[in-house]
Amino acid sequence: MKAIKTAGLGLGTRLVVGESAPPKPGPNDVLVDVKAASVNPKDWKLNRTAAILATPILTKRLPPLFGDDLAGEVRATGANVTDFKVGDKVYGMDMRPRTASLAEQAVIDEGCIAHMPKGLDFAEAASLPLAALTALQGLRIGQAMPGSEVLIIGASGGVGTLAVQIAKALGCHVTGVCSGRNRSRVTDLGADAVIDYTAGDFRRDSGPFDLVFDVTSYETPKSCAAILKPKGYFVSTGGNVRSVIAIRTSLSPRERGVIVRPLRRDLETLNEMIESGELKPIIDSRFPFAETQEAYNRSRSGRAQGKIVIMVGDVSGDGGER
Ligand SMILES: NC(=O)c1ccc[n+]([C@@H]2O[C@H](COP(=O)([O-])OP(=O)(O)OC[C@H]3O[C@@H](n4cnc5c(N)ncnc54)[C@H](OP(=O)(O)O)[C@@H]3O)[C@@H](O)[C@H]2O)c1
Repeated sequence: MKAIKTAGLGLGTRLVVGESAPPKPGPNDVLVDVKAASVNPKDWKLNRTAAILATPILTKRLPPLFGDDLAGEVRATGANVTDFKVGDKVYGMDMRPRTASLAEQAVIDEGCIAHMPKGLDFAEAASLPLAALTALQGLRIGQAMPGSEVLIIGASGGVGTLAVQIAKALGCHVTGVCSGRNRSRVTDLGADAVIDYTAGDFRRDSGPFDLVFDVTSYETPKSCAAILKPKGYFVSTGGNVRSVIAIRTSLSPRERGVIVRPLRRDLETLNEMIESGELKPIIDSRFPFAETQEAYNRSRSGRAQGKIVIMVGDVSGDGGER
């Protein structure tokens, strides 16, 4: 089968389409014909770290497996799988290397997938799992509930566009922080207020909030302390060393990080939100499989307006159960 592999060494590595042996499902796995996958910043961050380490130490090729999110059709099921059958349209995520979704086929634990929500095509479904589960689980960690005043920093990106919609679906009053060019997009997602971070310090004259959800990972509990209510939560996606250290060294139970968990029941919650019209995928761009490197470059720019999707398999028939 065709799969994304690395070509070149260390920091000069490029992602290219190569040949790989098809994976075999274990007893709890399904084997999926992947139709679409999506890019998450974690992919290129880990790849970059591996490249830096590999250059001086190992001087060898990087691990050839990539991609966590997928949407596609079930081709085969393991002996213990009862909830999915061949031909089902599924979507999900798994961060273990054995699930490499940038390949024509991938194996994934049945606990990490759900049936695709009605009305979405494969690209739309593949854009959701990792980012939407991060948004849902982060909002829950921050005790988001009806009436909560929630600030979402990074409201125009992959996680942020979904966090705004999910927070609204949970009944929160939502303020989004984004640049001026994304103001109308974030308003259209349902945000009650939008702050342009390029026009000055977003903390000035804002708050106090019950929850500050930082999906840029640029902020810390300390930098947002002044805009939190006394019992307010600060939750970070912890996408860099500084934010991880700030969260890990905090003694407060209200200063937390979210580490996304691939849970079918949470995917099913997303399905309900999608099918009720409360949540829609926001796609920045779609790239052909052969242009995976370009898709990663787009993510690395830090300017994505929603999710970046890679079309892996034949999607001519469309996946959506419309
Ligand atoms: N812990 C976990 O399980 C987990 C899961 C998912 C993601 N993450 C991490 O969460 C972070 C966000 O992920 P993502 O997929 O949403 O990234 P993304 O899609 O690449 O985010 C891009 C967006 O960030 C906005 N942005 C950049 N600087 C900003 C700033 N100073 N203030 C407000 N918005 C800003 C950009 O808008 P402009 O162009 O207008 O600036 C752009 O729309 C990453 O660090 C990722 O690694 C962690």
